[in-house]
Amino acid sequence: MSTLSGRRILLVIGGGIAAFKALDLIRRMRERGASVHVVLTEAAQHFVTPLSAAALSGTKVFTDLFSLTDEAEMGHIELSRAADLIVVVPATADLLAKMAHGLADDLASTLLLATDKRILVAPAMNLRMWLHPATQRNLAALRADGTLFCGPVDGDMACGEYGPGRMSEPLEIVAAIEAALAGATVIPLPHSAPKGPGALVGKKVVVTCGPTHEPIDPVRYIANRSSGRQGQAIAQAAAAAGAEVVLISGPVNLPDPPHIETLHVETAQEMLQAVESALPADIFIAAAAVADWRVATASEHKIKKGGDGVPTLALVENPDILATIAGRTEGRPSLVIGFAAETENVVENAEKKLARKGCDLVVANDVRPESGIMGGDSNAVTLVGRAGHETWHETWPRASKGEVGHRLIAHLVALLKEKTA
Ligand code: CTP
Repeated sequence: MSTLSGRRILLVIGGGIAAFKALDLIRRMRERGASVHVVLTEAAQHFVTPLSAAALSGTKVFTDLFSLTDEAEMGHIELSRAADLIVVVPATADLLAKMAHGLADDLASTLLLATDKRILVAPAMNLRMWLHPATQRNLAALRADGTLFCGPVDGDMACGEYGPGRMSEPLEIVAAIEAALAGATVIPLPHSAPKGPGALVGKKVVVTCGPTHEPIDPVRYIANRSSGRQGQAIAQAAAAAGAEVVLISGPVNLPDPPHIETLHVETAQEMLQAVESALPADIFIAAAAVADWRVATASEHKIKKGGDGVPTLALVENPDILATIAGRTEGRPSLVIGFAAETENVVENAEKKLARKGCDLVVANDVRPESGIMGGDSNAVTLVGRAGHETWHETWPRASKGEVGHRLIAHLVALLKEKTA
């Protein structure tokens, strides 16, 4: 039985070309036993009519903030409070901006502000609008407020361009609604999400993600705050582009990404072994935050207080997985990509890492606690690479880790072509 059964969904339909898909969504939700109340923005009514939404939902459709009859039947506060979840489909750049800034100048935006329920949005817009810093700022604010996102995905757009901004399909939104009703705090990328052009078909990509745990004794370990989200998003983007993907994950609190072969390891040494056994590959992406040191000899028994006073831990350096793979003379992947977790002089340190580790590209990110990146949902990265003897760098606007994954894979497709041409 679907988690939608017996649940009440308030669906806000925004004014975009993807609004027609909201009608199919109503049907899919009702098939699964949900009751659906629909609000149409004024702009939405240019794309779908209140009559078709009413016919499919079987309930009265609301459009007007100041309608006396609507207000007498069910006030707008009640409309949002009675819902188990509010779903915005399509979430246009304008609606997202209103939500981010707390504007309430029509029924839809008023409901979204007046609610104490969770909100799931399925954005859809032209890719330039999606990538615009203003939209990216609004998305970051909404994510920080706990708004859930389903998509958008890469794809052909009604405007003839290709890229992120295409709305997820109704069944993907249904899956996201079910996950949200089950309490999910992050909606995984839809399985079919990135309808990439299949640029990595026939290629193998190995990705590491998450932290490593280095045991001190049977109950204690050295670790870091890495969540594994960025590495998972990269693995998903690579799979979506058609690659065979092996994800080698340290201990994370995330489910394995669907349809991706995921190997679980604890320590840096195990991670290196797993990577070596996953080779040969065309691309190796070291997104894991590997612990630099391990305890020379982990205690077999739990270390007790008292006795000889405070214990001293003798540390030894872990193998550098990235440098080991990049330095292979035989069976080196065509592209070896490193990450650089930095708290200062990001570009300068990333350039040094590029040289020291012998990789082809470094994706640097700012891991100062105030950036909220490590462990968070979004990322702001600077790519640092080499062209001949010169290094170059390129900074991307802050975006969801999913989107950074897609952009990175698109970049690597081009780089791989260049390198293997
Ligand atoms: N890395 C690795 N094996 C290690 C340490 C790091 O493969 N033992 C990889 C990470 O996966 C990442 C890159 O190296 O792709 C850089 O990691 P980072 O922690 O930023 O750099 P370090 O080498 O640890 O250098 P420092 O801590 O001095 O900045």
